[in-house]
Amino acid sequence: MSETRSIFRGVGGYLPARIVTNDELSKSLDTSDEWIVQRVGIRQRHIAAEGEVTSDLATAAARRALANAGLTIDDIDLIVVATTTPDKTYPATAAFVQNKLGMRHGAAFDLQAVCSGFVYATATADSMLKNGLARRALVIGAETNSRILDWTDRSTCVLFGDGAGAAVLELVTLERGEAERGILASSLRADGQHWDKLYVDGGPSSSQTVGHVRMEGKEVFKHAVGKITDVVETVLAKTGYTVADLDWFVPHQANRRIIDGAGAKLGIPPEKVIVTVDRHANTSAASVPLALATGVEDGRIKRGDLVLLEAMGAGFTWGATLVRW
Ligand code: UT7
Repeated sequence: MSETRSIFRGVGGYLPARIVTNDELSKSLDTSDEWIVQRVGIRQRHIAAEGEVTSDLATAAARRALANAGLTIDDIDLIVVATTTPDKTYPATAAFVQNKLGMRHGAAFDLQAVCSGFVYATATADSMLKNGLARRALVIGAETNSRILDWTDRSTCVLFGDGAGAAVLELVTLERGEAERGILASSLRADGQHWDKLYVDGGPSSSQTVGHVRMEGKEVFKHAVGKITDVVETVLAKTGYTVADLDWFVPHQANRRIIDGAGAKLGIPPEKVIVTVDRHANTSAASVPLALATGVEDGRIKRGDLVLLEAMGAGFTWGATLVRW
């Protein structure tokens, strides 16, 4: 019997040109390269130029993913943008991306699950493809975190960066006997009782302002490793694969200590973990697709590899997706 699967046909990333190092931050903030590297493993972050908005980053990443897939925008009939820093309160950033790409057909919408946004968006697009709502989707994670940081709060502003990552998902039919390919399973979770551990203190309905990131870092840290390992075990159990079968672990890039802690708890060898947090910092919804694009572009992730995507962030939300590349 044949079965349908959503495959990752192409990926691409985009980072704004301006790089801000820890040393540069320490000129205006009571912090140091040593503190930041030791606590979170971040050495630098990219910051969007004045006037460069989330949809610009998303569009650039989408163009690279389309080129990587060997497709044009005419081949796409769904755009999902995971972002927590939209260009405007509405319309959706996806509508701006659609317009910038010159697409006049199909559907486009945003999805807000903060750092888990790309994993949520991938699972959503996968379900939509399998249910006949589209055939090929651009799934994008894009953020201009720099616009919602309190640049006087050293406990948050050193942690985040701007960027975008995109993937083209395509529905394929695998005939009986054909090699396994595409998204095998996803698992999504949320627990809103923890909203106040990581949030932005503004919004159209509450303060009519955009607000700034507020975080109880120790609380977030305390929950992260356990929630990540739980959802990874859940998604593996759905498929019958084990940690030993994994070729690549592509975790959310918030914090080197959380990545190492989750990897160690799960028993994943460090050489199978894609790490970009040192160069990108936490790009929220963009972090997983940027890490994925890095691993594909440098030739580590290859056709046939078993790849696990994972993210955890504000809400709390968390999730994982297992993919046969
Ligand atoms: O998607 C999820 C994203 N969030 C995360 O990944 C964050 C998870 N949390 C963490 O990684 C850690 O909690 C942090 C790295 C954010 C903070 O580390 P910590 O060990 O929990 O530090 P702390 O908040 O308890 O602060 C310890 C000290 C404080 O100074 P005093 O009160 O002991 O004098 C802070 O003021 O470190 C100070 N501090 C800093 N010092 C230099 C906080 N931020 C900085 C900084 N540079 N940037």
